Amino acid sequence: MAARIEHLVTSGEFTLDGGTWQVDNNVWLIGDDEEVLVVDPAHDPAAIAAAVGGRRLLAIVCTHGHNDHINAAPELAARTGAPVLLHPEDAVLWQQTHPGVKPDADLADGETLTVAGTELTVLHTPGHSPGAVCLHAPGLGTVFSGDTLFAGGPGATGRSFSDFPTIVRSIRERLLTLPPETVVRTGHGDPTTIGTEAPHLDEWIARGH
Ligand SMILES: [Fe+2]
Repeated sequence: MAARIEHLVTSGEFTLDGGTWQVDNNVWLIGDDEEVLVVDPAHDPAAIAAAVGGRRLLAIVCTHGHNDHINAAPELAARTGAPVLLHPEDAVLWQQTHPGVKPDADLADGETLTVAGTELTVLHTPGHSPGAVCLHAPGLGTVFSGDTLFAGGPGATGRSFSDFPTIVRSIRERLLTLPPETVVRTGHGDPTTIGTEAPHLDEWIARGH
């Protein structure tokens, strides 16, 4: 049986550069009846643990180190024993939220994670943050894009540790090169597809965000 994708939306606060915003986050679970991966442990460890249920949680994968994507990671790890994975270039952001705690292992570009017979390839896509990654699952026809690509454009690059030309390069070289029918499952809001977004790259560059 192939892996399936499950989804929950959790709510809480995003805090950076002294500002705080109310946000809804997408939490993704990829797996089968036996084992599962969690992508972006946001806000509500109890709800995420309930969604995992009795299954073995192989890893807690963080697409980047912004607090709204990682704030439930240590408690979910403590409840399940699963390792927390983060790209090392986002360690500085992680430390703002969890000082004195470290992720269990580094994510690396090109690395493959396997769950329930399905492979997810780690794509390092800096720009929204230095260590932002996307997870491409060709067998599921999807990419988990975190805050790098949304329906309607790139993730925000106006705050610290972000860079617009860098996110544009990541989107152009690493995401828009995926098959157009690839479903983009985002960190916030609705999914989209690569083919829907690709024609708009020049508009985003012209408007500067
Ligand atoms: Fe973010």
